[in-house]
Amino acid sequence: MNQTTKVKNVLPVFSITDFPILQQKVYGKRLIYLDNSATTQKPKPVLQAMNDYYEKHNANVHRAVHVLSQRATTLYEQAHEVVAKFIGAEAEEVIFTSGTTASLNLLAYSLCTDLEKGDEIILTEMEHHSNLVPWQQIAKEKNLVLKFIPLTKDYCLDLRQAKKMITTKTKIVSVTQMSNVLGTINPVPELVKLAHDVGAIFVVDAAQSVPHQSIDVKKLDCDFLAFSGHKMCGPTGMGVLYGKKHLLQKMKPFHYGGGMIREVRWDDSSWNDLPGKFEAGTPNIAGAVGLMEAIRYLEKVGMDNIEDHEHTLTAYALKKLSGISGLQIIGPASNPPTSLKQPTLLRGPVISFVIEGIHPHDLGEVLDKEGIAVRGGHHCAMPLMAKLGIAGTTRASFYFYNTDDDVDALVKAVKKAQELFG
Ligand code: ALA
Repeated sequence: MNQTTKVKNVLPVFSITDFPILQQKVYGKRLIYLDNSATTQKPKPVLQAMNDYYEKHNANVHRAVHVLSQRATTLYEQAHEVVAKFIGAEAEEVIFTSGTTASLNLLAYSLCTDLEKGDEIILTEMEHHSNLVPWQQIAKEKNLVLKFIPLTKDYCLDLRQAKKMITTKTKIVSVTQMSNVLGTINPVPELVKLAHDVGAIFVVDAAQSVPHQSIDVKKLDCDFLAFSGHKMCGPTGMGVLYGKKHLLQKMKPFHYGGGMIREVRWDDSSWNDLPGKFEAGTPNIAGAVGLMEAIRYLEKVGMDNIEDHEHTLTAYALKKLSGISGLQIIGPASNPPTSLKQPTLLRGPVISFVIEGIHPHDLGEVLDKEGIAVRGGHHCAMPLMAKLGIAGTTRASFYFYNTDDDVDALVKAVKKAQELFG
């Protein structure tokens, strides 16, 4: 497809009116929401399912024989099954957490328990703080060594360096599948193989990838994978940690308390079966219901359709934005494939850019007044910004409900900002 062809295609079984929030005007202008890497909007079925849960079924899970508790328990268990099927896992391999950050903290604590001084953890230079700070702090405590796979000048991972860095000293490799700043999609299967060849554990930060592409954890062969519900039409405060069953069984719990125990004595306790062992306390039941409904919604739209639409839209946006003089894209410049059949996926629907002479926050304010929501700043990736020698970027991030009209509006507003600041 010609990259500048308009991308009017509206996805099957999906109507923009499903998203009440997107129907509003801001400053008298149509709201154009391009901050989907931060969080996505929620369709009516998700809002309704959560409301229904509180109006009709609300009770605690696992604790009582009464009818409401039974319904709440069934819904909560169903949610594990729906999430598991969505990523190709077993229900007991799906731990509900409050989000990607909580999932990664759990891992950093539980996986590093048995590591020894000098053991190495490999991350990359493009990690979000959530996949950096937990490892960094545990590494400091336990005298572990952190290493970062560097970027190439094209904003991809330097795989030659990765091969050299992942050695028998490596115990854990934890990598984002898609950068929330650069949009780069990393070659997870190749990296998993490098890690497994030396007996290391492989963790995927999938916060930015699971919402946009079909993921099969068994095919990826990753050991753990973390993501958040709110970046995929679900509620905030609801996240997932997938782990291979035999690894989760060996790991130490992270949180202790009710729900995660089998038996408690005065002097010691034993742990519940999976996933309960890692879900201490009253869980986010309404959040689980909302995430389950979000997945059903995404499946109706079709993950392949979503991926295809976003690739075409991103190609269009890259072409249009890179035509603006003084604007530099911070991320892989090459257009993404316009078809799923193309093998190399370099890029997801996240475009960061800087503009000569305009600070990202100033640009964000001008765009806001035009009804366009983008994020400006370091995007929770300060070390990456330092590496790139910039203070921050402006970031437009798309979801399946965005269209070429949204891109055109963004381009027009950026040009307006250039005139204002010029
Ligand atoms: N991780 C989210 C973002 O990149 C908050 O905006």
